[in-house]
Order: sequence, then C-alpha cells, then structure tokens
Amino acid sequence: MNNRQLFLSHLAQTTDFPLLIEIEKAEGVYMYGPDGKKYLDLISGIGVSNVGHRHPKVLAAIQEQLDKYLHLMVYGEYVQSPQVKLAKALTDTLPSQLDNVYLVNSGSEAVEGALKLAKRYTNRREIISCINAYHGSSHGSLSVGGNEIFKRAYRPLLPGIRNIVYGAFHHLDKITNDTAAVIIETIQGEAGIRVACKEYFQALRKRCNETGTLLILDEIQAGFGRTGKFWAFEHFDIEPDILVCAKGMGGGMPIGAFIANKEVMGVFKNNPLLGHITTFGGHPVSAAASLATIQVIQKENLLDQVEEKAALFKKLLVHPIIKGIRNKGLMMAVEFESFGVLKPIIDRAINKGVITDWFLFCDDSMRIAPPLIISHTEIEEACRMILEAIEGV
Ligand SMILES: Cc1ncc(COP(=O)(O)O)c(C=O)c1O
Repeated sequence: MNNRQLFLSHLAQTTDFPLLIEIEKAEGVYMYGPDGKKYLDLISGIGVSNVGHRHPKVLAAIQEQLDKYLHLMVYGEYVQSPQVKLAKALTDTLPSQLDNVYLVNSGSEAVEGALKLAKRYTNRREIISCINAYHGSSHGSLSVGGNEIFKRAYRPLLPGIRNIVYGAFHHLDKITNDTAAVIIETIQGEAGIRVACKEYFQALRKRCNETGTLLILDEIQAGFGRTGKFWAFEHFDIEPDILVCAKGMGGGMPIGAFIANKEVMGVFKNNPLLGHITTFGGHPVSAAASLATIQVIQKENLLDQVEEKAALFKKLLVHPIIKGIRNKGLMMAVEFESFGVLKPIIDRAINKGVITDWFLFCDDSMRIAPPLIISHTEIEEACRMILEAIEGV
C-alpha cells in the first residue's frame, strides 16, 4: 500500500473529504510533495508556523536540546533549563502581573488548565464564553465553544456555561458576581476573523473587575505575533487575568501555556495539591523550540512587518467576486458569496500550488494566515495564483 492508502486505511479519519496532500519536506513558506510539487503555505498548518517551516534557529535549538535530554519527569518537579528559560522569556513579553507560566501540550489543555484555575481561584462555577468561539476539542474546552452543532453530540458537557455575543456591549451585564471567568478569543478565529473594538474590551475588563470575574484571553491563534503585536490584547490596552497560548508558540513543535499571576496560580498547590497534572507538558525539546521562536520573532523584527504584508494582500486581492477582507494583521478572512463559490477556488488554488482554507464556523470566507516571514515576492506569487484560481472557476 502507498502512503495515501495507509492514511485512509489505518489513520483515524475525521471527515470523508480530507485534503490528502502528501508532503515530504517543508522549508520557509513552502511545502514539497514526493512528486516534487511545491505548495506555498498560506495557512501555516492552521496558525502554527509563524516563523516558517523549519526555521534554522528553531532547528538549532532543537538539535542542541536533543544532545542533552528528552523527557525526564512529569511537569513541575525537576528544574529543566529549557522550561525555566522559556517561562522567563514569555513573562518578559507580558505585563508584570502575568508572571507565572504553566506549560502544557496543546491549546485545548491550556484552556482546560485556565478554566480549572479560574474555578479554583474564585470558588465559583459559572463560566461565560462567546457564540461562535472555538477553544478546543476536549470536553472542557468544547463546553465553552460557541457552536451548538459541534457540541450537541457530546452532551452532557460542563454545566454552568453561558454564552454572550462577542463584541456586544449589552451582553456584558450577564457577567455577575457568580461568574468565575469570561473566556474570549481576543480576535475570534474560527468565526471568520472578527475583531471587537477597543471600547468593548475596556468595558469587558471593567465589568470583570466589578464582579471579581477572571478574564481569560485565548490567544492560541492570535498570539505570537500573528496580529502585528506579540500579543493581540496589546491592541486594546487591556490585560487579561489568565492568558492562554499554543500553536505558533512552538515554532512547529507541540506546546501550550496558561499564564497568570503567581498568587492566582498558587491555588493549584493546595486542597488538593497537584491542581493540574501533565506528563509531557512543557517537553524540553518543545520548550527549547519555543524559546528560539520568541527570539526569532524579536530579532528578525517580524512584528514590524505584519501590517505592510497584510496591506499588500489587501491591495492585490481585488476581484469583483471578493466581497471584502477582514483582518487583524496577518490573521485574514477573504469573504465570498458562499461556500459554493469559495470551495472550488480553494481547490483550484491548491492545484496551482497555494494552500488556503475556510473557517470552522464561517465557510464563505478564505483563511489566510501565512508564516510571518513571507516575503513581498511570495505574497505577490500567492495572490497571483489565488486570482488565477478565481478566474478559472
Ligand atoms: C482560538 C483557539 N483556541 C484553542 C484551540 C485549541 O488548540 P489545540 O488544537 O492545540 O488543542 C484552537 C485551535 O484551533 C484555537 O484556534
């Protein structure tokens, strides 16, 4: 059997229509099939490869760690240099009250940890999340997801979850003294890139302060430079109580984190102790890769380039059937009339050699979230192929 047949026979399938693209090697913004076909990756493996595929600095950090040790012990017992250096570097990017990092394996686990932490710290049970939010696929993170179609089959989920509409001021009074936490994506990703205004975030922060509710910002897609700031909340002049990140954090390696104040995080130590347990959380190789990723974003001035690169996409992607482009930095959604119009364009674009996608809860819009290292020439090449794909449909 060839790899494609093995994939279909022995790897669990989650749809009847997987992309089935086979990749043999990836470098920078490009991925290469075994037949030599070259693909320009405009989605970064869904928001992961912010510093590109196999960034040499990330590879060097991984190699260096490989020569020292792999897994040593479950999380939180041994002093492991890659973990502590990463925690220090992460907190250096953050406001001073976010000074304590819990390293995990994935975005969903980071959300789980954040929800548990908020319940323990506030001793409250109610959690508020947004309609059309995506926070992950485990039971807890799915419970705070905002799309009933994805949740229905898995009920009962966590009790005490209430939904508000992202950006809607008049829903903020649903946050009360009973609310442990509000969890919200700073920029809604799977809803098709929705950006609330600064006044909304400030009103949300104020309401959380008034009610003693913890504000959890999910920056699993929007963090690590994707929007042109290291953290997306920097656009809105607010600070979360708990920040969750993953995806782009590992430079291509699996890792996530939830970050809070040391006093808040301290509740995990007692009654019961070991408030969150993880075997592989903050794996030393992933932690080393993540530290290198932070350094690449900073040293290569990737943040400063995001706006102009996004502007170039917007300038080039002009066509009568494109209805508009929503974006915050290089987190972009190109809107078409319907999924029926968009899907053949995505398929043709893949044939031409550029990979885009749609969104879980917004299937009329094309996902564009390229590696932040993408060059102007590569943006021109990508947009030319997308426009050709549109013309060819
Ligand atoms: C905003 C957001 N939160 C959480 C998650 C879950 O992350 P993971 O797939 O690493 O569990 C995702 C994944 O797409 C996400 O986009």
